[in-house]
Amino acid sequence: MMIGIEDVEAARERIAGRVRHTPVIALDQLQRPVETMAPVTLKLELLQVTGSFKARGAMNCFLGLPAEKVKNGIVAASGGNHGLAVARTAYVAGVPATIFVPSGVSPAKVVKMRAWQADVRIVGDVFGETNEAALAFTAEHDAAYIHPFADPLVVAGQGTLGLEILEDLPEMDTIIVAIGGGGLMSGLSTAIRAKRPGVRIIGVEPAACPSLSRGKFAYDFGDAGHLLPLMKMHTLGSNFQPPGFHSAGLRYHGMAPLVSHVMELGLMEARSYHQSKIFEAGILFARTEGILPAPEANHAIRGAIDEALRCRTEGRSEVILFNLCGHGHFDMHAYLDHAEGKLRDIDYDEGELAKSLATLPLEQVAAA
Ligand SMILES: Cc1ncc(COP(=O)(O)O)c(C=O)c1O
Repeated sequence: MMIGIEDVEAARERIAGRVRHTPVIALDQLQRPVETMAPVTLKLELLQVTGSFKARGAMNCFLGLPAEKVKNGIVAASGGNHGLAVARTAYVAGVPATIFVPSGVSPAKVVKMRAWQADVRIVGDVFGETNEAALAFTAEHDAAYIHPFADPLVVAGQGTLGLEILEDLPEMDTIIVAIGGGGLMSGLSTAIRAKRPGVRIIGVEPAACPSLSRGKFAYDFGDAGHLLPLMKMHTLGSNFQPPGFHSAGLRYHGMAPLVSHVMELGLMEARSYHQSKIFEAGILFARTEGILPAPEANHAIRGAIDEALRCRTEGRSEVILFNLCGHGHFDMHAYLDHAEGKLRDIDYDEGELAKSLATLPLEQVAAA
C-alpha cells in the first residue's frame, strides 16, 4: 500500500471543518532544566476531541469510502485511541460503531466510546484475538472495517497533521514522532518528504517492542490470527507477544509497509527507549509545561529532549518539533506504577527474537 502527497492533500480537503487543525506551539519551560538553547516546539494534537490524532484517519476513511460500504456501520479493533476515533466518527455521522477492545483496555476509554453510543465489546487478552473477532463481525454484518495503518485512507488522513505542521512552522530541522503500527508516520513522512525533504524524521518506539529498530524486513502476517494478507514490513514475527509495558498504542509486532520502505531507503531514523526513561521525560514535561502526556507521547518527548541535549553539546541551535500525540488522562494507572517504582525495563533478547522470526511464513517455506 503506497499513497502520494495528492492523497494527503485530498484528505485535508475532505476532513476540513470536521477534525481540528491543532496549533503548533513553542515551549519555553522544558528547555530550562536541560539547559539547552534549541527551540523545542510541539504539535498539540491532544486537543482532538478523541484525545489523539487518530481522529484524522478515521474521519478521512469514513468520508472517503462509498456510502454503500459504510451504511451498515463501521468496525475497529483497538487498544483504545483508534477505537475512540472510529466511535466518534460514527456517532457524528449517525451510523453504528462496533469496537472490539482487549480486556486490559483503559476503562475510561470504554466509558467515552460508550458515551458516543459505540457498541464496545471486550474480547480476549491480546490484540490478535480482538482483531479476529472484529473481522468476523465485519463479514457477518457487511460493515466497513477500518484498519489503523494498513488502510490508505486512514494513512492519508493522518498525513494531514504533517501538512498543518509545514504550514505553521516555516523553519524546522527535526520532527520526532512516537510510532506503533506506523499509520501516522506513513502519512506524515509522505507529506514531509514531498514538501520539505531536508527535514530529519525520527520515529521512536518502546525497547520492549522495537519492530522498526530490530525487526526483520520480510513478508509477514498483519495480525496474530493470520486473517490479514501478508505485508512486507519490519516485523518481530506475528506470534510475538510484547512483554508488559505501558503504551497500548505502541504494542504491535510489525511496522507499516510504507514506513518500513521509507526506513529501507534511509529517509528516516528509528530509535527505542526503555519505559523508565520515557516516563521520566513525561514527568519532567508535566512539571515544566503542566500537561500530563500519554505514555506514547512520552517516547517523542524523550527523543526531543535528547535531540536538544545533542544541540547543546554541538553548540548548535536547531528547531525541533515533536508530536504531542495524546493526553495522559486515560493512563493514570501507568503513572501510578511509575510513581510506585513498579515499572520494569524489558529488553527483547536476541534468542526470543530469533525464535519469533523463525515463524515468518517465508522462512517456514524455505525450511520445509
Ligand atoms: C496516543 C498514540 N500515539 C501514538 C500511536 C502510534 O500511532 P501509529 O500506530 O499510527 O504509529 C498511537 C496508536 O494507537 C496512539 O494511540
